[in-house]
Amino acid sequence: MDGGHTPQIAPVLILLGPPGAGKGTQARMLEEKFGLIQLSTGDLLRAAVAAGTDAGKQAKQIMETGGLVNDEIVISILRDRLSAPDCINGVVLDGFPRTTAQAEALDDMLDAQGQRINAAISLEVDDVKMVVRITGRFTCGGCGEGYHDTFKPTKIAGRCDGCGSHDMKRRADDNATTVMARLDAYHAQTAPLIEYYGQRNTLQRVDAMGDIEAISNELASIVEHVAA
Ligand code: AP5
Repeated sequence: MDGGHTPQIAPVLILLGPPGAGKGTQARMLEEKFGLIQLSTGDLLRAAVAAGTDAGKQAKQIMETGGLVNDEIVISILRDRLSAPDCINGVVLDGFPRTTAQAEALDDMLDAQGQRINAAISLEVDDVKMVVRITGRFTCGGCGEGYHDTFKPTKIAGRCDGCGSHDMKRRADDNATTVMARLDAYHAQTAPLIEYYGQRNTLQRVDAMGDIEAISNELASIVEHVAA
């Protein structure tokens, strides 16, 4: 954690945005800057699929075709993770909530813990450009760092800048067809949450088409403001 950025309270942040908007990239940067915990339901579901749990078996095909996994499964996975002790210093929710039912469940979970949402940040992007972002993405299997063939390449081809691993992975759902289905799911089921959080005065809109570092600095300013 950057010692100059220690928040005064444990913030609860939500990153909203379509596939490729940079939720994962920015959540990891906030984790590093502020010691917040990134809670990605996509990552939690992929872990469940890899482990072959009942939830993972139910989620697998839906994820491969770009639909949304049912609320009951996702809420249960998120509830378990959110109640872990390491979340006490604040969290960045990456990819949750994605439906109104999930948003209401989150409100109830936080209420029960005496917490609230400090900011729901909508990463605003041009859908057309998201296909290029998604199809060029790869991730280090060693430490989870995310890269892009063009926008964020490794310094040495095929070798993670952070941990040195050569185990680079591409997601099964990162193909052009599935990205279109994921974009449709976002607009039909998740975009209405922008209004949901607007009505609760927690919404912040950020232009997420620019430079990764510049967007990160803007998000850091929001965190510093809401957690002061
Ligand atoms: P999930 O894993 O959450 O995927 P997603 O929402 O489709 O988002 P992505 O991870 O694809 O994109 P991102 O916004 O994190 O972008 P990133 O930072 O990697 O969900 C996968 C599936 O799980 C869903 O389809 C669904 O089936 C299921 N699921 C998950 N949560 C669920 C829920 N709550 N309810 C129901 N189902 C759920 O960036 C992408 C690339 O672009 C990277 O290579 C990055 O380096 C690059 N990049 C990032 N920012 C920039 C920039 N500013 N300029 C240039 N390049 C950039």
